[in-house]
Amino acid sequence: MKFTAGVLTTSDRASAGIYEDKSGKVLIKLLEEMDFEVKIYEVIADGFDLIKEKLLEYSDHNINLILTTGGTGLAKRDVTVDATLAVIEKQVPGFSEAMRVEGSKITPFAYLSRSVSGIRKNSLIINFPGSSKACEENFEIIRPFLIHALETINGISNH
Ligand code: MTE
Repeated sequence: MKFTAGVLTTSDRASAGIYEDKSGKVLIKLLEEMDFEVKIYEVIADGFDLIKEKLLEYSDHNINLILTTGGTGLAKRDVTVDATLAVIEKQVPGFSEAMRVEGSKITPFAYLSRSVSGIRKNSLIINFPGSSKACEENFEIIRPFLIHALETINGISNH
């Protein structure tokens, strides 16, 4: 089965055109290399309601995997995690736990990401930090168990 994906970049500055969204593009490239069909990609401001609305929309459209990038840190406008928690029905903590534990071997700042991961309807949602470097590193960390998770969510594998 070819899985579909959506990439949602949350960044006040990238959405205002102050700088280019590199991290979302990195995630798209990595997903396409793994044969995902990237159906949606948007760059939006760091707003709780807006992010929540997009996550609901993507999961209503049965996107198998939704990756967000940005807004996982400790600043006031970092609300991607909070919007994700507001929509997911089941947490899948292993993705974000692995990112923090394995990422901390690269930089201790990995522990400063509040990333969460979980399922809404048939969609797996995973929060990535905002830097393109962090996206690349974290994608490598979750890659070994990503497809198995999607197969289980979609009833293709049951273990
Ligand atoms: N994880 C990895 N693997 N590599 C990184 O460079 N950057 C960290 C962290 N996670 C980083 C990382 C930093 S500096 C921060 S502040 C947090 O992610 C949150 O980033 P965000 O606010 O852009 O989401």
